[in-house]
Amino acid sequence: AAFGFRRCRGSRGLDPCRSDALSLPLPQASGKAVLITGCDKGFGHALARHLHAKGFTVFAGCLLLDQGGDGARELCDLGSERMHVLQLDVRYEVEVARALQCVKERLEEPARGLWGLVNNAGIASFGDVEFTSVEKYKRVADINLWGTIRVTKAFLPLIRRARGRIVNMSSMLGRMTSPLRSSYCISKFGVEAFTDCLRQEMYRWGVSVVAVEPSNFIAATGILTPEGIEAEAEHMWRGASETVRADYGEADFREKLRRMKGFAHSGLRDVSLVLDDLTEALAAQHPYTRYTPMEASWWLRLQAVTHLPTALADWLYVS
Ligand SMILES: NC(=O)c1ccc[n+]([C@@H]2O[C@H](COP(=O)([O-])OP(=O)(O)OC[C@H]3O[C@@H](n4cnc5c(N)ncnc54)[C@H](OP(=O)(O)O)[C@@H]3O)[C@@H](O)[C@H]2O)c1
Repeated sequence: AAFGFRRCRGSRGLDPCRSDALSLPLPQASGKAVLITGCDKGFGHALARHLHAKGFTVFAGCLLLDQGGDGARELCDLGSERMHVLQLDVRYEVEVARALQCVKERLEEPARGLWGLVNNAGIASFGDVEFTSVEKYKRVADINLWGTIRVTKAFLPLIRRARGRIVNMSSMLGRMTSPLRSSYCISKFGVEAFTDCLRQEMYRWGVSVVAVEPSNFIAATGILTPEGIEAEAEHMWRGASETVRADYGEADFREKLRRMKGFAHSGLRDVSLVLDDLTEALAAQHPYTRYTPMEASWWLRLQAVTHLPTALADWLYVS
C-alpha cells in the first residue's frame, strides 16, 4: 500500500476505488452504511462526500452540528437520504450513545448491522515535553485515543453483526516519533496498539480492523494553522516553569515556533491518496491491515526508522 500505487484487490483495469473515478459508484457499496467521525472538515468531510458519491450510506459525525457548523450544514445541504449528519463529540459517552441510537433507528435493516466505522476525529499538537502540561497530554488523548476506543466499543456489536470494518485514522507518527510531537505521538501509538489488538480479536468474527497512516497533509486539511500554533505556543510559554523557560531560552522557543508555523503550510495538498486508501479499506474484499498514503521519501524514512537500530535511525534523522 506504499506510494499510493495500490490496486483495489479483486478488481481489474480501472480501479473503481480510486478518487479519480469519482463518477463511478462502487457496486459493493450498495446497501452498506458507514459512520465517520470528525466530518466538519478535513479528511472526514472529504471522505463523507467521497463515500456518498461511491454509493455508500453515510453517517457523518460532526462536532459542530448543534452549533450550526459550516461543514455539517454543507453535508445536510446535499439533501440525500443516504447522507445522515449526526452531532458527535467523541469525548462524551452521552453523545456517542445518542449517535448509536440514531444510527440504529435510521439503518435500513438494523438486524444486518453497520458495515463500517471510520475513527477519523482528531487534533494535532506540538511542544517539547518540558513545555507540555499533563492536561494537554490528556486533552489530545481524550480525542485521538480514548475517542477512538469509546466510539469503537459502542459500535462494535453492530459492526460484528455485519462482519464489517473498523478503520482507524492513525498517522505516520503512530509508527515513528519526532521531537516536539510527543503528545500527538503517544495518542497515535495508542491507536496503533488498539487497532492491532482489536484486529487479532476480531478474526473470529470476520471483522477487518485497519490502520491508515498518512504522512503530512497539513496544508490540505488545516489540522494545524499558524494562528493555532501561535496561540498554543503562547499558552505553553506562559505555563512553563521559570527554570524551563530560562534553561531553554526564549530564542530557542521562538525559533521552534517559527519552524512549526512553516510546517503548517507543508505537506501534500491533494487528499486523494488518503481517500483512496480509506475507500479500499472499506470496500476491498481483503483489505490490507495498514495503509500508508505518503510520498516515497516519507515511506523510506518510515521503513528506516522502524527497521534500523534505534540509535542509527536517530543519528540519521534527528541528531
Ligand atoms: N492532516 C494530516 O497531515 C494528518 C496526517 C496524519 C493523520 N491525520 C489524522 O487524520 C484525522 C483527521 O485529520 P485532518 O487533518 O482532517 O484534521 P481536521 O481538518 O482538523 O479535521 C479533524 C476533524 O475532527 C473534528 N474534531 C475535533 N475534535 C473532535 C471531537 N472531540 N469529536 C469529534 N470530532 C472532533 C474537527 O472538528 P473541528 O472542525 O471543529 O475542528 C474536524 O472536523 C486525525 O485523526 C488526524 O490525526 C492527519
